[in-house]
Amino acid sequence: MLDTSAIVSSSLPRPASGPPLRLAALPGVYAPTDDSWLLAAALAEEELRGARVLDLCTGSGVLALTAALAGADVTAVDVSRRAALTARLNLRRHRVPGRVLRGDLLDAVTGAFDVIVSNPPYVPATRADVPRRGEARAWDAGTDGRVVIDRICRAAPGRLRPGGVVLLVHSHVAGIERTVDLLRAGGLDAEVTVRRSLAFGPVMRERAAYLRSLGLVAPEDEHEELAVVRAVRPAGSAPASRAGGGRVSSGSGVTAAGSGDAATEDGEIGMAGSVRTP
Ligand SMILES: C[S@@+](CC[C@H](N)C(=O)[O-])C[C@H]1O[C@@H](n2cnc3c(N)ncnc32)[C@H](O)[C@@H]1O
Repeated sequence: MLDTSAIVSSSLPRPASGPPLRLAALPGVYAPTDDSWLLAAALAEEELRGARVLDLCTGSGVLALTAALAGADVTAVDVSRRAALTARLNLRRHRVPGRVLRGDLLDAVTGAFDVIVSNPPYVPATRADVPRRGEARAWDAGTDGRVVIDRICRAAPGRLRPGGVVLLVHSHVAGIERTVDLLRAGGLDAEVTVRRSLAFGPVMRERAAYLRSLGLVAPEDEHEELAVVRAVRPAGSAPASRAGGGRVSSGSGVTAAGSGDAATEDGEIGMAGSVRTP
């Protein structure tokens, strides 16, 4: 068990508008920042009451919480044990139900969803693979920043109900048009619905020289463009791709992927171990 006495209390930044969230985060868990709030605002504009919502890369659970407070049936997934525990605590704190699983993206769940939302790691890094542990797992995403985004773009279309929506946020440094193209290739109607130019945060500042060497940031420029990509599966369409080796159910229920899959049971906050908060 993690020692929850180490929890950092609730002075995380909040959006100017939106639900009054009282979030806490265990050390090392990504605290909501501009990208989180941009996506939370976009998420809040969706039809969430009664919708089956999947929050991939949940971190503190800020997006899962936004959906749950709006009456959605929420499943949240994070590969980090601390993040899964944090998200679970934050849902519990707000007395809303939600299933939080520790696992690897869509491999952690079966079933289909009305909304798949994600603020994935997207910062280009000098190493080609993704870190297996540590804080950087929240942002480092291979040399082009797309290791996690590409997996989501390829797998999510096959896990949407007809009329369902994928909502992703990331920076221009990871290539916004490629995200739109990949989701379109999956049979979705994809477009950028929000663009915001923002000053670099600490991670981007630290990475600026590398990003400039790749030509992704102009000399002297200290801004990035964040974009929300919204992609809809047309009602009545068959998904162009099916993820998870045929594990997509009829959509009547969401279950954690079993131990035969990439995710395995791991006790109370186990990989893909399902816990519903009260
Ligand atoms: C940028 S943070 C976003 C946190 C939160 N959703 C937010 O918007 O503030 C990315 C999160 O993705 C998680 N993550 C990284 N790789 C993952 C994977 N393969 N499967 C699930 N979660 C992953 C990290 O642990 C981290 O919590």
